[in-house]
Amino acid sequence: MPAELKNDRFLRALRRQPTDTTPVWIMRQAGRYLPEYRATREKAGSFMALAQNPELACEVTLQPLERFELDAAILFSDILTIPDAMGLGLTFAAGEGPKFERPLRSAADIQRLAVPDMDGELRYVMDAVRLIRRELDGRVPLIGFSGSPWTLACYMVEGQGSRDFARVKAMAWNDPGTMHALLDVLARSVARYLSAQAEAGAQALMVFDTWGGLLAPGMFHDFSLRYLAQVTDLLKADTHARELPLVLFSKGANSHLEALAGTGCDGLGLDWTISLAEARHRVGERVALQGNLDPSALFASPDIIQREVDAAITAFGPHPGHVFNLGHGVTPGVDPEHVKVLIDAVHAAGRRIREPA
Ligand code: CP3
Repeated sequence: MPAELKNDRFLRALRRQPTDTTPVWIMRQAGRYLPEYRATREKAGSFMALAQNPELACEVTLQPLERFELDAAILFSDILTIPDAMGLGLTFAAGEGPKFERPLRSAADIQRLAVPDMDGELRYVMDAVRLIRRELDGRVPLIGFSGSPWTLACYMVEGQGSRDFARVKAMAWNDPGTMHALLDVLARSVARYLSAQAEAGAQALMVFDTWGGLLAPGMFHDFSLRYLAQVTDLLKADTHARELPLVLFSKGANSHLEALAGTGCDGLGLDWTISLAEARHRVGERVALQGNLDPSALFASPDIIQREVDAAITAFGPHPGHVFNLGHGVTPGVDPEHVKVLIDAVHAAGRRIREPA
């Protein structure tokens, strides 16, 4: 273990090495369900002001670690920082999702895009990573992250979230050359961005392909998987990133787990629509698995949460290579006490399953 790291369960599990118990972290662990997060966001004025202020981003990154026995911290930021740095103008209106002032509307808009400067427009992200590493002081590892090329393209072409992402899919059908040009510049940007986070001190990397599951199999292969593989290849050849475990999370893409495992990544994130036993059976020892309790289970009573955690850990079995997480981000409105119940239940069940029979 790196000399300065006091808890390396998470990194060991991603490398499929034995651990004393199952490590756990939670997607969106720093977020609106925490009153202290809402207070800091209020102080910052807006989500982007919070994300772009390294001191405040560091403060909210650490907030969930003060409450819960988490085994990893995740950089507080957003996947849409790359398109913002490319000039699209990201805003989050209160109570609404993300919006771009200048979405991509033509091939000419796409031809103009360039890989953003990691020491320029995105320097605030690297400053936050450096500060968080210092403040963590080796308590747990820090996860750096990015959106996937396809998922970033979805927001960049639509200009905001969408029910069906019809506009971006229409572009993929009608002008695949332009769509590939967009995905290529995004893949190179994502790899540079993750490499810069690694250089700044991130200790594991995760790529969120939130909208991969929108695509039919052929399109998934051409527009999502191919660029996840490009990012993985670039990172595995990169001086700063190649030693860091890399997790790919393609939500709704369970029919492609074998192909995702074949990219050369170290772990796969899973949504809650597949059992851990089946996922493990399909990918074997090739990758670690991260997931996958239904986030809505946190609205259930503590005894039900404990029962579901036990069931998930039993389903995975006593093998190395499981990082417990939800199948998607924690829902605003969840009682933080229920998150504590979940995390403590994971560690208890993880110890139990490792005890000699
Ligand atoms: O997980 C963490 O704690 C780290 C921080 C993090 C955020 N966004 C902070 C955030 C991470 C890893 C993300 C990733 C992200 N952002 C994804 C991929 C994961 C996923 O959820 O599928 C996506 C699709 C986005 C884009 C995005 N950002 C949306 C659609 C929204 C609005 C809807 C929502 O869930 O709130 C955001 C805003 C956002 N990003 C918030 C947080 C804490 C809430 C902003 C606020 O109101 O304070």
